[in-house]
Amino acid sequence: MPEKKNEVIHAALLGAGTVGGGLYRLVKKMKKEIPHRIGCELDIKKVLVRDASKPRKGIDESVLTDNWDEILNDKDIQIVIELMGGTSLAKAHIIDALNAGKHVVTANKDLLAQHGEEIFAAARENNCDIQFEAAVAGAIPIIRPLMQNMAGDNITEIMGIVNGTTNYILTMMTEEKMSYSEALKIAQEKGYAESDPASDVEGLDAARKLAIMAQLIYHTNVTFEDVYKEGITAIMPDDIRYTGELGYVIKLVGITKLTEGKVEARVHPIMLKKDHPLASVRKSFNAIFVKGEAMDEAMFMGRGAGSMPTASAVLGDVLDVMRNIRMGCCGRVQVENYRDIPVKPIDETKNNYFIRMKVEDRPGVLAEIANVLGDNKVGIANVSQKDTRDGVADLLFIIEEVKESHMVEACCAMRGLDCVYSIANVIRVY
Ligand SMILES: NC(=O)c1ccc[n+]([C@@H]2O[C@H](COP(=O)([O-])OP(=O)(O)OC[C@H]3O[C@@H](n4cnc5c(N)ncnc54)[C@H](OP(=O)(O)O)[C@@H]3O)[C@@H](O)[C@H]2O)c1
Repeated sequence: MPEKKNEVIHAALLGAGTVGGGLYRLVKKMKKEIPHRIGCELDIKKVLVRDASKPRKGIDESVLTDNWDEILNDKDIQIVIELMGGTSLAKAHIIDALNAGKHVVTANKDLLAQHGEEIFAAARENNCDIQFEAAVAGAIPIIRPLMQNMAGDNITEIMGIVNGTTNYILTMMTEEKMSYSEALKIAQEKGYAESDPASDVEGLDAARKLAIMAQLIYHTNVTFEDVYKEGITAIMPDDIRYTGELGYVIKLVGITKLTEGKVEARVHPIMLKKDHPLASVRKSFNAIFVKGEAMDEAMFMGRGAGSMPTASAVLGDVLDVMRNIRMGCCGRVQVENYRDIPVKPIDETKNNYFIRMKVEDRPGVLAEIANVLGDNKVGIANVSQKDTRDGVADLLFIIEEVKESHMVEACCAMRGLDCVYSIANVIRVY
């Protein structure tokens, strides 16, 4: 049994913003509990910020610094908690810290989705811990389950609602019958959406989290660039209404699965049957639905962002590193990308689809459209005609599973028909 040592473990915090400030408060609150739970105290010895002269509520001035070398060269500091964000400086500091034998906890999804492989390699080479539970879905435990609890299984698919902003907007559009712009405005007023919402509503934030999860379960390098991204800005009230009448809800999801020897990694709106477990995840909540060969199905749900929920996940990681330090078993759990699996282009994926189109309201139109679909190997599962106004009818199709490239070609051909005024939307169906 290794000797248990360390009365106090010293850490440095990089960043004192939303999450860093929350973490500092949580450490203070849990100060007396931590020694009982872990066997030693946690001391945040330094806090790196851009402007160390600016007073920070609740943070002792003496720990503030704007000098990274003070942290890097401090032999007492064994854990670096990176909560500054960004991909350049954060990456340099994390690599420096690992090379200096310091363990790292980070919530930086942008960085791991882009440079994860390099950072994980540095952790392995230095036999250091790198923990990042908060980088995917904030307070929801998903990284540790995927890397540890499910390590003995083959995960076949992950489908996750991993962006609270878009889930909130879609919930408001569905339940309060709002337009996209009305729902976005409310989300901004409530602090769920940034003033520039692009990263959320265009699916970029979800793509970062999906890339991290995909590489953990398929043990191959999947980056942000590899993920197909489509956001929610094209979803109209008519899509919500008609899909609801057909028994579906629209959610923005990240999906990763292995098909035909390739990794699918994509973020886009999807129609889920109302009884699917993810369909009931409302407002700003996140949830991740996992399927495994042996485990069957599991769902993880909770708060995907916010100061204290995210800080809770970060502190859980820090305490885990402290346990490893005390027991002399750091570097135990590593990201192992031992495979080299290609990522499948979206054109090659197979899906069911919902098509909403505006067509001329006269006999024979349906037959013309059905012919074009058939010519492009696209089968119809369901068709219905909805509102008709001034000679224009809303026509809805549910399409049988087909390769995306065939669907794209079919839409192109349908747009060429005189009777088709517009293809208002095409949404994948789960
Ligand atoms: N917010 C969330 O709900 C959430 C959820 C999950 C994950 N995350 C991740 O957590 C990380 C932090 O997010 P956040 O929302 O807390 O960010 P934030 O509020 O913008 O805080 C960033 C902090 O880092 C410091 N900082 C930035 N650049 C620096 C530099 N060059 N040198 C020194 N200090 C620097 C800032 O210092 P100053 O105060 O001096 O400007 C600030 O204290 C990001 O990677 C984010 O993706 C956030």
